[in-house]
Amino acid sequence: MIGPTPSPASEALLDALVEIARGKRLPSLAEPARLAPLVAELAQSYNDPALRGLGPGKHLAARLGFFFVRDLPKVAGAAREAIALGRLALTRGKPLRVLDLGAGLGASHRGLARALDAAGHSGTLDVLALDTDEAALELSRDIARRVPREGNVAIDLRADVRPMDRVAGHKARARFDVILLGQVLTELDLELQPEARVAKHAELIRALVGDLLAPDGTLLVVEPALKPRSRHLQRVRGALLDPSTPPPAPKLALVAPCLHRGACPLLARDGDWCHEDLAVDLPPRLHPVAKAAGLRWQGLTFSYLVIGTAASAEATLEARARARGPGLLERAVSEPLVSKGKRELVLCGDPLRDDADPSYGPHGRRVGRLDREASPTNEPFAEAARGDVLALHDPLDDKGRVHREHRVELVARLPEALPPTPESP
Ligand SMILES: C[S@@+](CC[C@H](N)C(=O)[O-])C[C@H]1O[C@@H](n2cnc3c(N)ncnc32)[C@H](O)[C@@H]1O
Repeated sequence: MIGPTPSPASEALLDALVEIARGKRLPSLAEPARLAPLVAELAQSYNDPALRGLGPGKHLAARLGFFFVRDLPKVAGAAREAIALGRLALTRGKPLRVLDLGAGLGASHRGLARALDAAGHSGTLDVLALDTDEAALELSRDIARRVPREGNVAIDLRADVRPMDRVAGHKARARFDVILLGQVLTELDLELQPEARVAKHAELIRALVGDLLAPDGTLLVVEPALKPRSRHLQRVRGALLDPSTPPPAPKLALVAPCLHRGACPLLARDGDWCHEDLAVDLPPRLHPVAKAAGLRWQGLTFSYLVIGTAASAEATLEARARARGPGLLERAVSEPLVSKGKRELVLCGDPLRDDADPSYGPHGRRVGRLDREASPTNEPFAEAARGDVLALHDPLDDKGRVHREHRVELVARLPEALPPTPESP
């Protein structure tokens, strides 16, 4: 994956969360014994397919003391490739207009601020945060008041109660540079059958892009990494790209993680789901809460989709790498699969064989390198982890193997190797 690994919440932010909890007489992250049962209860609701137990004004202590901190780096992780590619930028003097939908306590827009700061940007995020939960929004305002910036990125927040179905289809005075849907699709339309829900969420995203996104804007969707939620998001992606959608459906560009517009290889088999898994742990101050609640503090998992408008499609990684010359562009969508004498990855991107792989379809393949074929030119294959992008400069053999003389490049760690974004016509 391109761009810096997201960092967890700062000490100053954690201090502010403790202060806000105290002010509201809620158990804080500094009181693991009191907070942990509340965190465990909310985790149970989030894991329940029907999300029983959620609702406005509920679980405020657990959200403030734990889930806000846990979720904050997710949007940072999802946004960093778009930032590294120049799709998403902040220039001093011109605030970035951000619409954060289902904003809750603001983990998504704050994650975006952190990602921009980590990439060296400075300036202001002009955020409109909307949600059905006034109590959660009140906490978002408190957080923004006490910690109004992430490094060199200031957060100027307006937070209003408004349900999702009163957002799309309503023209705004000005369009937004960024629209965030952070772990909110997962809470919408649970009463619908799966296919109808996919169609409705694709329709929602099309409407947001068509009505509210600036011509060179970016829409980020982040979802929990749970298998059914991730697979739902990949199905929404499929519906968004469906060429039979009647006009005036806006044309969309996929910025990340997908490097192609074909069928998702990880939807082909029931047991697979496309998700990110980063080595970002919870801050140490939250470990006692996580331990006592029976939750992990290691690692950060989420699924995501970064969508741009067709007008700026040429700024995507796919288009820019094409401009660089021959070679197949692939993203690792599995952990390294290591067995005796061999290392494999499931790759997703340019077709890697003439006929479709029966397991993954035309755009996916399980690719391996035998240990005895290791060489300096193919070593990046062994260094790649889930989410990384590889350029394969030579064709694989018919078993899908990388050989000693093959040239493999880890594009994820070489953003500077990509040519500058061409000007839009
Ligand atoms: C899991 S929280 C996500 C908060 C934040 N965006 C994040 O990234 O962590 C989901 C939020 O969606 C809000 N929500 C649920 N249904 C909604 C709806 N129909 N319209 C607007 N917000 C909604 C909830 O109130 C909740 O604050």
